[in-house]
Amino acid sequence: MLFAEHRGRSMFELTGKTAVITGASRGIGKGIALKFAELGANIAFLHFNDGEKAEETVAELSAKGVKVKAYECNVADLAAAQKTVEDIITEFGEVHILVNNAGIVRDKLILAMTEADFDAVISVNLKGAFNMTKCLYQHFMKKRRGRIINISSIVGINGNAGQANYASAKAGMIALTKSVAKELGSRNVTANAIAPGFIKTDMTDAMPEKAREAALNAIPLKRPGMVEDIANTAAFLASDEASYITGEVIKVDGGMAI
Ligand code: NAI
Repeated sequence: MLFAEHRGRSMFELTGKTAVITGASRGIGKGIALKFAELGANIAFLHFNDGEKAEETVAELSAKGVKVKAYECNVADLAAAQKTVEDIITEFGEVHILVNNAGIVRDKLILAMTEADFDAVISVNLKGAFNMTKCLYQHFMKKRRGRIINISSIVGINGNAGQANYASAKAGMIALTKSVAKELGSRNVTANAIAPGFIKTDMTDAMPEKAREAALNAIPLKRPGMVEDIANTAAFLASDEASYITGEVIKVDGGMAI
């Protein structure tokens, strides 16, 4: 009771849970980590080549009074992911929640898109999610509980010119989510995807001005999403209140993909 009061007014409670979040040194992943930590979860997060921001994030998360550790790990590398997951289980014990959020873009029209552009985006966004799921699969099976939350995108539903690699990876993540939901449902493990629209982060700040304006104009709610919008949905999917939801894709996009 004391904890619930201490944690504030949120209806969700993650005290005593451990969440593994990929790509949480900044952006959406960091927003999810902060929200989960506010709700009482211990956080093990992965980043790639982002040590300085990861340290800042560790400090911010630790200030919330939970256990936190950052791991530098390329999710596209299965052996590295395996080693990191083993280290996390040694350090934290049971893992309850996996959020596959790490992602990159290499936007170009197909005419200009190289094989390397295509492979890099598929490897990090799609294979990375597969790798992390594979590494925690038996752990979740044995514990007979687990939550997997995959950060896809509305372009994985609708496609997007200039993003054939990224949209394909994000569509693949939706199929991965539904497959995992079917494979692990009998073990009380749920898998769901969030499809964000246009969210204000380093990734979208780096877009050309014209593309940013066009994206904003296409949003019925007439504002970009904030990382908190995605974090709140992730918190719901990780909570006990969402225990009967699996294989679902929730768009959080201000109506952009209606
Ligand atoms: P960001 O670029 O701000 O952060 C990306 C994070 O992923 C960083 O922590 C980085 O260290 C990590 N990362 C990158 N490559 C990695 C690798 N190989 N191994 C491990 N970690 C790696 O990105 P943002 O905007 O926060 O996006 C997060 C996720 O949300 C991505 O999957 C992105 O595709 C998705 N998304 C973002 C949208 C947006 O509007 N910002 C919209 C729809 C989806």
